[in-house]
Formats: sequence, structure tokens, C-alpha cells
Amino acid sequence: MASYDYETHEYDCIVIGAGGAGLRATLGMAEQGLRTACITKVFPTRSHTVAAQGGIAASLSNMGPDHWQWHMYDTVKGSDWLGDTDAMEYLAREAPKAVYELEHYGVPFSRTEAGKIYQRPFGGHTTEFGEGPPVQRTCAAADRTGHAILHTLYGQSLKNNAEFYIEYFATDLIMSDDGTCQGVLAWNLEDGSLHLFSAKMTVLATGGYGRAYFSATSAHPCTGDGGGMVARAGLPLQDMEFVQFHPTGIYGSGCLITEGARGEGGYLTNSEGERFMERYAPTYKDLASRDVVSRCMTMEIRAGRGVGAEGDHIHLHLNHLPPETLAERLPGISESARIFAGVDLTREPIPVLPTVHYNMGGIPTNYWGEVLNPTADDPDRISPGLMAVGEAGCASVHGANRLGSNSLIDLVVFGRAAAIKAGEVVDRDAAIPTPNPASVEKALDRFDRFRYADGAMPTADLRLEMQKTMQADAAVFRTDKTLAEGVEKMHGVAGKMGDIKVSDRSLVWNSDLMETLELDNLMPNALATIISAEARKESRGAHAHEDYPDRDDENWRVHSLTTFAGEGPKLAYRPVHLDPLTSHNEGGIDLKKIAPKARVY
Ligand code: FUM
Repeated sequence: MASYDYETHEYDCIVIGAGGAGLRATLGMAEQGLRTACITKVFPTRSHTVAAQGGIAASLSNMGPDHWQWHMYDTVKGSDWLGDTDAMEYLAREAPKAVYELEHYGVPFSRTEAGKIYQRPFGGHTTEFGEGPPVQRTCAAADRTGHAILHTLYGQSLKNNAEFYIEYFATDLIMSDDGTCQGVLAWNLEDGSLHLFSAKMTVLATGGYGRAYFSATSAHPCTGDGGGMVARAGLPLQDMEFVQFHPTGIYGSGCLITEGARGEGGYLTNSEGERFMERYAPTYKDLASRDVVSRCMTMEIRAGRGVGAEGDHIHLHLNHLPPETLAERLPGISESARIFAGVDLTREPIPVLPTVHYNMGGIPTNYWGEVLNPTADDPDRISPGLMAVGEAGCASVHGANRLGSNSLIDLVVFGRAAAIKAGEVVDRDAAIPTPNPASVEKALDRFDRFRYADGAMPTADLRLEMQKTMQADAAVFRTDKTLAEGVEKMHGVAGKMGDIKVSDRSLVWNSDLMETLELDNLMPNALATIISAEARKESRGAHAHEDYPDRDDENWRVHSLTTFAGEGPKLAYRPVHLDPLTSHNEGGIDLKKIAPKARVY
């Protein structure tokens, strides 16, 4: 048994992660007078939300007619009918309120001539239930929207007396014997001390696991820490097979070029100079949904029409747009294109390639952010004391494919919802739970095991093996063969965690140990992704299976669940929520409008 001293802390609520969802939850909890701490492994304003560029979707109607029901329809269609209907209704209905709240908190949105929040077109966002022209629904602060939101939410959280534990790495959930979450063990990277946080409610807002792949727009800290903790606690991960490739990562570096670039009039061409999206998506062209555009780009490259010396990428043109528009609306990507592609985008096209960008799957929750631990009899069973929000969670509003700018709105709508729910269910007068000693001991033992790991496999080498396997075998297009090979390879890769080598035994700023703990979190996320992808015998959203090219609603309109308890990964399924929150008679959407149909743009 490992012996470590640790400091103890008690709160009503703790939030792990300080991106958009974590900060919105922290702020909402603190505003209600709940004693709230936010524990974050990076400085809050360096969380990955800071990299979100193009904007946040809400049907404000500032630039033309829009309606929450049109937003809901687009989200349902974007999800390829795998999203939960109640959660998607909640998102679309609450979005305008959540954006106006941001405005009042002080987010410096770009403005129209009339002084309203500026909104731009984004892929898959339409009018008239997909029958009308593209809508301008994406509210933007130039192309630095995430940056603006994150800084504002951090300031507001401090103003409301939320406490921050910055550069603290949460290692494991503390669970009671009856499965209630009681808090978390964390490691202070700066001075090496350990900390046991006990709380009535623990919120995982740890972001996605893009770094399971070799080329991703995700920042290096996107290592699926919440998913890793949940998997070790024996709770499931949902819909992990659905990994979004953003059409326009800069070729080589993977750095994001916002979809706002196409929203402002940019377009893609192949080696023949053809605007090929017109062929594949005659109505919405370059503004079709992301999974569609990424597949079309890949097909062009496969057909020998890629650009560059090796014909392995595509061109994104913005050079026809007025330089003032580029300077005013897209200053950030002008800089990224220059730094990462050596391109002056007022004169030349940007070399781009579909790049891993977002995880639709994650920790299953209801639309209040409460984590689910489904059984066959109760597919919506709540796991007490635990919430998950943002990319770490799966509510599920994005289903099999997320629409651009539906991520930032997901962060604030569901961060806010979690705070509202915590205000209802957290009893301020109740005692803080006493942490289960067996669970604390298990967390300390794991920490110690990795600290002194003396195998043959350096962490960086094993991480690269995992990333290359995922990139090759769980790609834009998948086949039975690549997936089966990928599953076998990933089992081998994950098995090598037992032979990991950590060279630095210290506790202060030990990045070797931290990256090993992160890799141990990435592993179940990666495994769940490839295992659930191999099992799903259809094509839906981001899961494009060449041996099963059609969507199969009869057999596969279900959420996958991967659990790591006991003997290794196990797969199960739970039904998609088909009922909306509000009936048509009460002003809700007409279900006939969102009935499954072929998904064409
Ligand atoms: O393209 C972008 O600006 C990314 C937005 C998003 O992922 O929602």
C-alpha cells in the first residue's frame, strides 16, 4: 500500500476542468452560493476552448429569419438521427438565452451595423427545416470566439468567489462502495503535493480525447481524462465510434482553419481547380455538414485529384475575399495560415486536410449533465454525485456528427444546466461525504505504480504507437478489415501500459509522470472508439463504413456503451430518446418534421 500525505478539502461542488463548460458550470454554481472549486491542469484561459474560432450557434435572427425549431431540425439531421430528441430540443431552445447571458457577462461579440451580435453561416445550419437557404446563426467574436468566452467566464467566476486549483491534475474519482462519487484525488504539479477533494457533486468537464490520434486540431492537454477516470470507476463510455474530422486542418500541422472561412465565402478546390463540393452537395456545397465535406475531400484525394507534390491534400481559397473582410472577420486564421502553412491568404490558397477535431462520444448523461450508469431495465439510471459536461460528456446532442458551432453552445447550455440541477439536488445543509478509504488507497496505489514504473516502454513511444494505430485504422473511411486489425493492434498497444517506463521519480513538475497518467486516460478512450466502431455494421454520421455504406435505423439507431469493469472492454447498447421535451400541441416541434430520412445537403 502506497503511503502519501495529502491535504483534504471540502466543497459542495467541484468541477474538474476550466474550459467553456467547466467555467460555465463553476460560475452557475458559485452564483447560487454553492461552495464551488474548479480544479484544472492548465491555467483556465489556456483550456482548449480558447482555440475555438468560428462561433456559437443560436437562433437570434439578427441577420435574417431563424427559429429554434429550425436549429433543432438541423441538429437532428446533423446527428444523423442518433442524438437524443429531448437533449437536442433543450439545446436549441435554451441557446438564445445562453448567448444573451454571455453578452451580459461581457463577451465582446462582433457587431452588425445596427449594434446586434454578428452571426455568420456555418455548415449544416439552414432555414425552413432544411428546405430554405443557409442561415446566419453562428454568433462570432471575429475568429476568436472561444477566446472571448473563456476569458469572460473566468473573470465572472472569480467575481462570484469560485475557488480555483490551478495546475492540479485530477488522477482518480473517489467512489463509495454503493457507487456514489465522493470527490477526486488530485496532484499539485507545481509543488508535488497530493490533495483529496470531497464534494457532494463532482462535475467532469475535462474535454475530448483528440490526442488519441496522430493529427488533431485538439491541444496537447486533450487527453480524455474524464473518460479515463470514469472507465476506471467501472462506468460506461457512450458512442465512442463517432470521431469528427474537421475538413480544414492545415496540411502538416493539423492547426484549425475555421469553418467560418467557408461561412464568409471561402471554397475548396481539387487539383483540377474544380469546386468539387458543387458535385457532391448541390444545395449547400462547401457549407454541407462536416462529415460530408471531409468524406468528399477524401474521395477527391483517393481519385487522384488531390493537390500538392504528393496529391494528398486540398486547397481552401479565401484570396477572392476583400482584404478588409479577412482582416475584420478572420484575423486569427490569417495569422495561422502564415505561421503554419507559410501562406498569405490574401493571395494564395491554404493547403488543408480533414483532421481529427471532436469526439461526439463521451460519458453518457441526461440533459442536466447527470452521469448515467444504464442497466437493461433502466437505461437512464443516474450515477449519484457525478456530472459530465462539454466534450467530455455525451448528452447526446451531437449523435453521430456534430454541426460546427454547436460545440460552444453545448458548453454553455449544458454547463449552465448542470449548475441549475446542482442548485436543486445539492443539499447545502447535508454533511460532505467522508471519502471511502478503499477508493483513496486504490487511487494512491495507481499513482505510485506509475511514478515508479520501470518497464521497457517509454511513454512517448507508446503514445505514438497508439496515435498511429488510431489514425490508420479508425479513420474517415473504415472497413471491416481495418477495424478488425485496429482492434487487435489497440489491444496490444494498451497491454503495453504494464511495461511502461517512467524515468523521473520526482513529484514537482514531473511531466514524464503526468504524460504517463494522461496516456493511461487516453487508452480506454481509444480502445472504446475502435471496439465500438468495429461492432457498428452500418454507416452513420462520422462513422463511414465502406462494407455497410447505408444507415440502418432498424438495427443501429442505438447508443453504444463500452465498459471496462472486470475482464476487459464490454459492449452494450441503450435506446436513443425519441420523445421531445414538449409536445407539438404545447408549442414543441412537429415530430413528422424530424422523422428519419435520407441525409442530403
Ligand atoms: O471551424 C470552427 O470554427 C470550429 C467550430 C466548431 O468546431 O464548432
